[in-house]
Amino acid sequence: MPERHIVVLTGAGISAESGIRTFRDSGGLWEDHDIREVASPEGWQRNPELVHRFYNARREQLHHVSPNPAHFALAQLEQAFRVTIITQNVDDLHERAGSRQVIHLHGELRKARSTGDPRLIYPWNGPLDVRDVCEKGFPLRPHIIWFGESVPLMKEAEEHVRQADVLLVIGTALGVYPAAGLLLFCPRKASVFYVDPHPAEWPGPTRNRLSVLKEKASTGVTRLVRHWMATGDFGRPPED
Ligand code: APR
Repeated sequence: MPERHIVVLTGAGISAESGIRTFRDSGGLWEDHDIREVASPEGWQRNPELVHRFYNARREQLHHVSPNPAHFALAQLEQAFRVTIITQNVDDLHERAGSRQVIHLHGELRKARSTGDPRLIYPWNGPLDVRDVCEKGFPLRPHIIWFGESVPLMKEAEEHVRQADVLLVIGTALGVYPAAGLLLFCPRKASVFYVDPHPAEWPGPTRNRLSVLKEKASTGVTRLVRHWMATGDFGRPPED
């Protein structure tokens, strides 16, 4: 039998149990911060110091958090299946858990990018400062896709979703496009799973094939992965 291709779309919810705040839950990041000021090109023009402070704090937090059982379970899935992770998260917890194919739709906290030449991207672990420049002398910015900016990895992500045998969506409110629009490219034959304690409305034609596990990622994802590894059965989700 050909190898199954499992495509996983993750959002902030998968990292919540590692201690990283989500965006739109109560207590979420966007309650304390104005998106327009810290996550838009206009905000960056107005006040780059503020933008740096915001992302420096997020980057610093990465030193104090670790992957949780959901991240590890997804990495383990690669022992038996072909797995592509498409994440909206800018943390590196999938990689630290051992996942090898991770597409970061919204960028990566641990990278900095030239404002003059977007091809110049550097690993970055400490704070970024307005005086930091690329090798061509342009100021550096966080390697994050802000609201209103295009998402360069969308096409690649779309191709993976189009070829999915199984689509697993974890911990996302499905409120931000174009990322949420990826679900529309899922083939009708695919098995579709959504793990989230407060699942959002599911868009598109695969709704009638959807299994929702209304629970936290650490338990829901671990249970699904254990079941799939043991049985190779992507039909109904396992009972509790
Ligand atoms: N396990 C699984 N899901 C959880 C958990 C958990 N332990 N805790 C919360 N969630 C779910 C919430 O129920 C919600 O559906 O995670 C989701 C978080 O939603 P958002 O905060 O909107 O995060 P996300 O969907 O990833 O946001 C998308 O918005 O601001 C931008 O660029 C940012 O990538 C982000 C994008």
